[in-house]
Amino acid sequence: MVLAHGGAANDPAVSDGCQAACQAALAALADGAGALDAAVAAVVVLEDDERMNAGTGSTLRLDGSIQTDASVMDARGFGAVAGLEGIKNPVRVARAVYQTPHRLVVGRGARELALRLALAEADLSTARAREKHAARMATLGGGVFAALWQDVPEVFWKKAAQAGGACDTVGAVVRAADGTFAAAASTGGIWCALPGRVGDVPIPGAGIEVGDAGAVVATGVGEVIWREHLCARVHQAMMRGVPAQRAVDQAIADITRSHPDVDVGLLAVDRTGGGAAVTREMPWARAER
Ligand code: GLY
Repeated sequence: MVLAHGGAANDPAVSDGCQAACQAALAALADGAGALDAAVAAVVVLEDDERMNAGTGSTLRLDGSIQTDASVMDARGFGAVAGLEGIKNPVRVARAVYQTPHRLVVGRGARELALRLALAEADLSTARAREKHAARMATLGGGVFAALWQDVPEVFWKKAAQAGGACDTVGAVVRAADGTFAAAASTGGIWCALPGRVGDVPIPGAGIEVGDAGAVVATGVGEVIWREHLCARVHQAMMRGVPAQRAVDQAIADITRSHPDVDVGLLAVDRTGGGAAVTREMPWARAER
């Protein structure tokens, strides 16, 4: 079974992209790939889909730069990158980190690893992302990056949050025929982020978690997801025997109570099924052979 999402606060009309991602994962499994590489295959499709905030089409940061985070995980290991620039498929770099003794490689080192492995470079900015950035910056009054340092930060980010569409990370969870689980996630981060800001995606237990009970990925405002250890919490519930759908429903109900204004979504797969839940809206799809 495969579930893939195109990000909390993204338009559910782009769920066809999530279905294409699920099909890529199923095709990888049919070709003999394990759960981890199937999850990577799904996320590559989502990163290449300009309608999603990951890989090509990533959200621009306050200074107009693009920095991406990605992670992969199964019950045996974890690999992640953060603050990666100019690499087409960040999830492939995270997959490479998984094979090293390290767990998280950031910035220049992550880019150098990608280049040494001959992974494709790309300009990840699209006309659509640049237009969205310009429109959002206009709502903040222009010249904003300079103004940020003079303004009261909470006031600034409150205004930014009101501009809407904070985040739309992508991710996938997989249960292979042999019963193994894996997850992968990738993001351009949230709107109005400082250069160098890192969210939940490359943090195990926050934006991604895989263990004996199943696999979980999150999407939404990383600072909240991280603080709540959201994916670890869902996995712990599944370890106690709570089915995947009920576990994600419960976690979203909790977040809605504690952070009523924040967009968050979750996907999970367990031994018998899968589940998706979101505070507002999120494109996603599920497929199984
Ligand atoms: N959930 C993606 C981020 O906050 O960066």
